[in-house]
Amino acid sequence: MFDHFEPMAADPILSVVTAYRADQRPEKMDLGIGIYRDESGATPIMAAVREAEARLIESETTKAYVSPIGDEVFNGKLVDQIFGQDHPERSRVRAIQTPGGSGALRMLADLVRSARPEAKMWLSEPTWPNHKLIFGSAGFEMIDYPYFDPATRSVSFGAMMEHLSQAAKGDVVLLHGCCHNPSGADLTQSQWEEIADLLVDRNLLPFIDIAYQGLGDGMEEDAAGLRLLAERVPEMLVATSCSKNFGLYRDRAGAALLLASSSKQADVTRQHLVRAVRGCYSMPPDHPGRIVITILQDEGLNRIWIDELDAMRARITSLRQKTAEALRQRSNSDRFDFLAEHRGLFSLTGLTPEQVARLAQDHAIYLIGDGRMNVASLRESKVEVFAEAVMAVTT
Ligand code: LMR
Repeated sequence: MFDHFEPMAADPILSVVTAYRADQRPEKMDLGIGIYRDESGATPIMAAVREAEARLIESETTKAYVSPIGDEVFNGKLVDQIFGQDHPERSRVRAIQTPGGSGALRMLADLVRSARPEAKMWLSEPTWPNHKLIFGSAGFEMIDYPYFDPATRSVSFGAMMEHLSQAAKGDVVLLHGCCHNPSGADLTQSQWEEIADLLVDRNLLPFIDIAYQGLGDGMEEDAAGLRLLAERVPEMLVATSCSKNFGLYRDRAGAALLLASSSKQADVTRQHLVRAVRGCYSMPPDHPGRIVITILQDEGLNRIWIDELDAMRARITSLRQKTAEALRQRSNSDRFDFLAEHRGLFSLTGLTPEQVARLAQDHAIYLIGDGRMNVASLRESKVEVFAEAVMAVTT
């Protein structure tokens, strides 16, 4: 059965984790996989999560099944979080709880495949490598649209729009709601407006991955583009994750949201999404979702969580500024200023695969091979060391 299998190419992100773990040098730095680290280098359990989990263990009385849609309180809270409580189209939105953002991406992909098997999936070039694995596994034909201009290190909006204007009616356009992974370059509000026009004109289905909500400019600000689209388009899909903004990475909580043409159609479409869930993992894990519910339903815990999230975001912004400044001084140029302008955990640094390999080999600093750096894992005390190493491999 399996003898014809050839060894697989390494996962571009997880292979960096493996190489970092195997490195014995005490000064090593992991700026690869997308996790937040504090100044001590730890990824702590958020205080609100710890408290909610303690309350949950105390009060939980059963492990009986919940439902393929997860908990409706969770779903409602996530719709509030993403669309806002007063969104005019809220009555056309439905959600299900999923195992992380990846579970949401795959279930929504299956939903589209069952509705319109000929639809093609348009993905930004570059995008999170796992998007291609997930949508490819769902059977999609995928087409890249240009997104990031390496010369300006910002969005190549003209080229993006030109390519997307070639998409066929009913095709799906995957957009990163905020904190573009891997580039760090986000769309402006006026660019979202133009995209909305194009989607409506060409009858395209927007599919938003908003896995990093709250880590760019704020929970509300990061959802502004998505909310604008939802006022304009008849249908939309959204995949979200509690991995990053609740720090629940390994527990796997997320949600798949759909905006349908009417409230009635939203109910029917969710039934089809539930069918996809039953045909795959049957029901999502309950525990991490219940932690999220406990936090979002309790005013005190909610405050603690928002304050922690704000502090994480402020720290990322400050690390971005300090790193850009350190590199400005050393390079005597503004060519790394984009680090301060980008948003979220990641930036595409422009380092070549060879330079990334030298950073690992000579300096024990690990980035992803495409030059993606996770700024949120850098320690303030290591910014100068990092800048020194970047100069050493680039000059
Ligand atoms: C990342 O992009 O590093 C994260 O989303 C983690 C992952 O699973 O790739």
